[in-house]
Amino acid sequence: MMPGSARGERHGWPENVGIIAMEIYFPSQYVDQAELEIFDGVSTGKYTIGLGQDKMGFCSDNEDVNSLCLTVVQRLMERNEISYTDIGRLEVGTETILDKSKSVKTVLMQLFEGCGNTSVEGIDTTNACYGGTAALFNAVNWVESSCWDGRYALVVAGDIAVYATGNARCTGGAGAIAMLVGPHAPLILERGCRATHMQHVYDFYKPNMDSEYPVVDGKLSIQCYLHALDKCYEIISRKLQSGGHKSDSSLLDSADAFVFHSPFCKLVQKSVARIMLNDFLREPDPGKKQVYSGLEAFRDIRLEDTYFNKEIETAFITASKPAFIKKTKPSLLLANQVGNMYTPSVYGGLVSFLISRPVEDLSGCRIILFSYGSGLASSMYSVRVTDDLSPLSPLHRLVNNLSDVELRLVRRKKVTAKEFDQLMKLRETTHHKAPYKPVGNTEHIFPGTWYLTDIDDKHRRKYERKPLQSPVDLNDQSTEKLIPLCSLDRVLPRMAETYLKCETQNEPSEKY
Ligand code: ACO
Repeated sequence: MMPGSARGERHGWPENVGIIAMEIYFPSQYVDQAELEIFDGVSTGKYTIGLGQDKMGFCSDNEDVNSLCLTVVQRLMERNEISYTDIGRLEVGTETILDKSKSVKTVLMQLFEGCGNTSVEGIDTTNACYGGTAALFNAVNWVESSCWDGRYALVVAGDIAVYATGNARCTGGAGAIAMLVGPHAPLILERGCRATHMQHVYDFYKPNMDSEYPVVDGKLSIQCYLHALDKCYEIISRKLQSGGHKSDSSLLDSADAFVFHSPFCKLVQKSVARIMLNDFLREPDPGKKQVYSGLEAFRDIRLEDTYFNKEIETAFITASKPAFIKKTKPSLLLANQVGNMYTPSVYGGLVSFLISRPVEDLSGCRIILFSYGSGLASSMYSVRVTDDLSPLSPLHRLVNNLSDVELRLVRRKKVTAKEFDQLMKLRETTHHKAPYKPVGNTEHIFPGTWYLTDIDDKHRRKYERKPLQSPVDLNDQSTEKLIPLCSLDRVLPRMAETYLKCETQNEPSEKY
């Protein structure tokens, strides 16, 4: 059912479902990639220029995926002044598995204890870096379904990305994202604009339960990523053209921004070039477009022969550079400064894009996102930014509440490459140890951060929250004033009421 259709309006079904609020957490310490190049004994520029990474966030032994997710959820709820009773679904996407049975979601239910809300659907989803996207789709589907009860859904994606010593270690990172999902959202997931490609492949996986580290075939993972991008490109282009969505033959021209899962920034630049290559091969008359001049020689190539073809890659990186700078580079701030956060990576890209320009310039934009998780699962989908720019609009609120991200990045503590290496060894030797008391320093973690204090002999974990010293910890003095969300009945005015009435009248499900 398309938004605005007669059937939809008559029954008051949720419209413009998407992301209402966002929050991000990244660790308060980082290692400098140029220093890591020296420490690792690789050539100068390999990590910083070759891969496009400047800093990498990481956690000591006193942070785990549970603490990351506790921190980001509580921050989102506090900063937007939402009551835990207003959440009807909570989904977690993660590949940082601490327990083969107990989910992160159940750990997060501690935050709901104060208000007594235990009626919260949803659980964890895992497939490498894709789990957050699966969680988001589940949440949106729930709000659009006959099961929705008028409350918000909350999506959390969190991971600690660490690699064994060697060439992959510099592509780590850590962080968590929380997203509030509901109708009348400022970031709307466009209906019918979703493409998915899934496949069985061993490019990156974690078969060793005793280690945090993946088994990774780096080159294969890059090939799989680019192949998945081609497949999603093909499907979404078809959908955009046949589904009544206005679209040029060029996908690159059809959106204002392209945000990618970012294992490292250089791969994202190559992905923009790859989209242009796909556009070029689909274009009936490429000679008519100035942007393709000089590329004629590549007209007869087959996509599957080109993953590591330097000549083609360089030609299309050069041709797509203006598009990359305008439509994608702004989304790489967190990827460049924190590294690959795994499940939150693509949403860190979205946050970076949103804070890169004035709200007025975001309004009405179409953003195409590409989510990739090794193994493999991938999706490309479209988010439409609302054009409501009224004072205190949901878009203003969402963006304003992210305005301290750059300041938090600057306030992190730099750790030497040697210390980083020692902390990685500490995580390695204490992974899954029980009983265990973390020794990591809590002095530098940001106020309001949850951290691990104890693992008992039955592997039960205990956490504490670093106190907020004052209300300004939630709303840094140098940022604009936070704008809380309205109460649920004001945000979802007629919608929940109408919907709940339909529910109690037990209408048949053919409403959709
Ligand atoms: N100055 C400038 N550039 C340099 C220098 C230098 N001194 N040295 C090397 N480079 C360039 C290389 O030319 C290469 O660029 P190119 O690919 O554009 O030619 C780049 O730096 C990387 O160098 P490689 O030798 O290819 O790097 P290596 O093979 O050692 O490792 C890899 C890179 C495979 C990405 C590794 O870090 C890895 O396995 N990471 C984890 C897997 C991953 O992130 N996969 C992506 C998708 S799956 C996921 O999200 C987890």
